[in-house]
Amino acid sequence: MTTFGESHGAAMGAVVDGCPAGLYLNEEDINQELRRRRPGYSAYTSPRKEEDEVKILSGVFEGRTTGAPLMLLIENRDKDSFSYQSIRGIYRPGHANFTYLMKYGLMDERGGGRASARETVARVAAGAVAKKFLQEQGILCCAFLSQVGEIFFQEQKGVTVEMLQKKIYASAVFCPDEEASQRMMQEIEKAKIEGDSIGACVTCIAQVPAGLGDPVYDKLSARLGFAMLSIPAAKGFEMGRGFQSAGMRGSCYNDGFILNDQGQVSTKTNHAGGVLGGISTGMPLTIRVAFKPASGIRLEQESVNDKKEKVKLRMAPSGRHDPCVAIRAVPVVEAMMALTLADAVLLQRCATLKYPS
Ligand SMILES: Cc1cc2nc3c(=O)[nH]c(=O)nc-3n(C[C@H](O)[C@H](O)[C@H](O)COP(=O)(O)O)c2cc1C
Repeated sequence: MTTFGESHGAAMGAVVDGCPAGLYLNEEDINQELRRRRPGYSAYTSPRKEEDEVKILSGVFEGRTTGAPLMLLIENRDKDSFSYQSIRGIYRPGHANFTYLMKYGLMDERGGGRASARETVARVAAGAVAKKFLQEQGILCCAFLSQVGEIFFQEQKGVTVEMLQKKIYASAVFCPDEEASQRMMQEIEKAKIEGDSIGACVTCIAQVPAGLGDPVYDKLSARLGFAMLSIPAAKGFEMGRGFQSAGMRGSCYNDGFILNDQGQVSTKTNHAGGVLGGISTGMPLTIRVAFKPASGIRLEQESVNDKKEKVKLRMAPSGRHDPCVAIRAVPVVEAMMALTLADAVLLQRCATLKYPS
């Protein structure tokens, strides 16, 4: 996937290369994913109205992919460039305008330009193609909000993606537990009222067969970390027990092999998060991504400008920003998981002449 476009430019989009021919694909397959990422979807995200709709410009003929590059275009309709005039030239704390200027010497500042998380709309569109492809292979994945500030949701052992999906979509904050959702909403509301923002974690689970991934540089765990940490505001990544494993003993951490009810080799626990030696074990892939609190807050902050003057600023005076960006990152994490897995599935087709069932 390659994405293009700036937040307040004409359009955003993605080019998806390597999608096999013959996949049934239409614009609604992609639009339904875009609706989940849209701001204004719930009271807990930005009130911007991005009525995103995709146009498939190439790579589909008579409802099926042709094997040619897919070009997906999403027009930018709700842009408010004027509201950014007052903060022009100011290095915004937590935003990328300072580093972009250091790198390129100039920047399209409207809404953050290329650095804006608006770019993630293109990832979700490309991810929808990957999800459709994976569904045909019997591979499912879902992401959900698992932590907001100090409020946690821990999924039960043995829950499947199908079981989680319905509950996730029913929650305004994409958390599969009603009680945890309520507490998370209260926490977000509190930060919002105070003109502040709050950090959060997104968990993603995928049901995949054993044997996917690469043993050395392109380990599945490494590819997933790379994909997730490329999402704006993503600040931490872990698989299975992740950072907790540093505090554990081998006797407790090791996932012992067993034969499951269907007589298949499985593991009793899944502390590894579904990957051993860079290759999937067949246990659910389980990852967590930490998102920082959004930088755009109403509270006054200190900074400097490009004339090296001290300034004070409020970064979200109009209230068009998300108090908790991780909510809208949920479909983005899911898209990046699907894209990474689709690559792994396609690469696996040339890995061996003997693939154990
Ligand atoms: C879906 C999504 C929406 C976001 N919306 C906002 C926002 O409204 N306000 C904000 O300050 N940051 C938002 N961010 C985060 C910024 O884009 C990001 O923090 C900024 O570009 C700096 O990059 P970095 O945090 O990765 O270093 C969002 C991130 C995601 C994934």
